Amino acid sequence: MSDRQLTFTESELLSDHDYAAPHAVGDQRLHGGFDADGNYVPPRSQGRRVAIDNWTAALRERGGDLFEADSSLLSGPRVPNVEQQRLLIDNGITRPFWNGLTITGKIEGRGRMIAQIPLPNLGSLVVEDIGGMAIGHLGKGLLTAHGIDEGGEPDKGIGGHDVMWFVARDLALGADAHPDVEPPGNIARPDGEKPARRMPEIELPYEMLLGFLMNLLLIEFRAEIGFASTQNVLRTPTLFTDRRAEAEEAAEIVERIRTDERIHVESLRLYLGEFRSLTFKTVDGGEVSGADLIDPFWKGLIHWATVEQPRIAAENTYQALKGQILEDADGERILQDFDALADPGYSLAAG
Ligand SMILES: [Fe+2]
Ligand SMILES: [Fe+2]
Repeated sequence: MSDRQLTFTESELLSDHDYAAPHAVGDQRLHGGFDADGNYVPPRSQGRRVAIDNWTAALRERGGDLFEADSSLLSGPRVPNVEQQRLLIDNGITRPFWNGLTITGKIEGRGRMIAQIPLPNLGSLVVEDIGGMAIGHLGKGLLTAHGIDEGGEPDKGIGGHDVMWFVARDLALGADAHPDVEPPGNIARPDGEKPARRMPEIELPYEMLLGFLMNLLLIEFRAEIGFASTQNVLRTPTLFTDRRAEAEEAAEIVERIRTDERIHVESLRLYLGEFRSLTFKTVDGGEVSGADLIDPFWKGLIHWATVEQPRIAAENTYQALKGQILEDADGERILQDFDALADPGYSLAAG
């Protein structure tokens, strides 16, 4: 075998590159930095990058691979889509865009909890030795890095993704363009008649961890839809005409968030790829392959998250937007144009 490094200390996994310049916008310090050529470099990505590459290579040598996640996970209707958002802004209705960026930032901020999720002892679940795997390092820096990427280090005045969205929003629209807003409640995946155990072969805390990681992968992966559409809106030459340079800079900040998120998606695919390749001890003293537990759960989850949940979210958002559009003096006409731009396959419920 090779002499590639497979165990890492927490400080190695949290280590930053030596930046040529810090990342700041105005007087707001943000995470990460820039190399000598001016390229953005994500935070805590020096040791973490090497570690992910080494663990991935080792996983592949054992016959495994990263957990599969492709663009089919991006499906489902979106309200508003890019053309609808452009129509609204072009008609001076900027509050939905403002709200969208505010809510995204606040949800990112909640991601700080990833640094604190309770971790069951995986050594008691997995038959194989996980000391030289990514999943053996979840509590030794990996989840801490992930959580801080999302929610920043407020005590040090360093903004993470939450603050980056707020900064981007204020650049494009001006600070205090609209009132603050809170995210809507979660749309829960229906559980049937009672909260169902989905992997009864293993203890509940392990099921909860695996379910959490799979849900997080889907959320992180689907965040790409929002990055692309936000950037397309910000980069529309006919919009934000009195703040074009600021809107372009806002799109650049979104690109930096996007760059950071690639590490999150890759990490989660690695954790789940490792779990899939391993053998779990069952509650009745037997053994089961990780893939046999993970694959059926994942199948149900993606149906919910790419088909059912987007439809409910689109409908909820549409109803809220409709009210905001109709407040405009020209609301009836704008709403008609808005409806005509709806995603194919998205039909409105009556009313
Ligand atoms: Fe994020
Ligand atoms: Fe993330």
